[in-house]
Amino acid sequence: MVIKKEYLEDFVSVTQHAAIATYPYIGKNNKKAADKSATDSMRQKLNEISMKGRVVIGEGEIDEAPMLYIGEIIGNQRGDDIDIAVDPVEGTNFVAKNMRGSISVIAAANKNNLFNAPETYMEKIAFGSHIDPGVVDLDYSFKKNIENLADFNNKNIEDLRICILDRPRHKKIIDEARHKKIKINLITDGDVTGAILVSDKKFNVDLFLGIGGGPEGVLAACALDSMNCGFQGRLLFEDDKIIERANKMGINDLNKKYNINDIVKGDSIFCATGITDGDITRGVKIINDEYITDTFVTHKSQKIKKNISRNFNKSV
Ligand code: FBP
Repeated sequence: MVIKKEYLEDFVSVTQHAAIATYPYIGKNNKKAADKSATDSMRQKLNEISMKGRVVIGEGEIDEAPMLYIGEIIGNQRGDDIDIAVDPVEGTNFVAKNMRGSISVIAAANKNNLFNAPETYMEKIAFGSHIDPGVVDLDYSFKKNIENLADFNNKNIEDLRICILDRPRHKKIIDEARHKKIKINLITDGDVTGAILVSDKKFNVDLFLGIGGGPEGVLAACALDSMNCGFQGRLLFEDDKIIERANKMGINDLNKKYNINDIVKGDSIFCATGITDGDITRGVKIINDEYITDTFVTHKSQKIKKNISRNFNKSV
């Protein structure tokens, strides 16, 4: 079943308004306030949409997050059954410090077609649409993935470029990549965008990998699936409490490697509106008393992948 075209406009409007709601907090060193403003706006706009919606990836568990918690029912309960993943501010540090790369993100799929996972880390790997199955795999060593990619792309290893979060847990991979003289996009945050960089030659990233947020993995997988790119993930469980939550959600094989279509099935929509300027979108600007927004969108069934620019009067 396809998600009706009208929903794309609805969801774009949700992230556009959330990005505008975050704008006053750029550079104010207050991650919480920025996130709250975006979340309030997102929830209000989602509830105006004609859908029977449910949050499957949200701001946290019901006992931790008052709004857009996992399982929250959203929408006006009159339209289609849709599951939603949200990240009102992806890159809260970027907003707080006025750095490049913050976006407001939402993804949608038909009911039960989006991975419903607890808030935990995910080991991830993403690669472009031109890479044949089996060339890259989460279960291969970094060395094997890189050598296979170099062979497949007919490139020298030192001409490859990877993207990875700058975290101590990635030291081994980063050291090995440096030793092999591979180019590295070392990102301080924002691995939804990091993963999406494999989708277009203009970004010049051959492989995204490493451990980041599970919710961010699901969001990135939606965009990548629409663009026929590859993504695999494996959840990582820090303690028994998370394992218990996962079990309750029906996840029993804790070691399972999820392929992209285990994470998102069928049709999907992905929208990311820039808060600050970034690689996939420009940030919110104010010109002549208008907010100017830029949103990267994909809609799988409609083969849509584009940026949408929209102006709003400052009174919104
Ligand atoms: P927030 O915007 O929610 O702070 O997340 C930013 C982020 O960098 C994600 O893009 C990434 O998946 C995750 O944090 C990594 O987590 P950690 O900072 O704990 O390594």
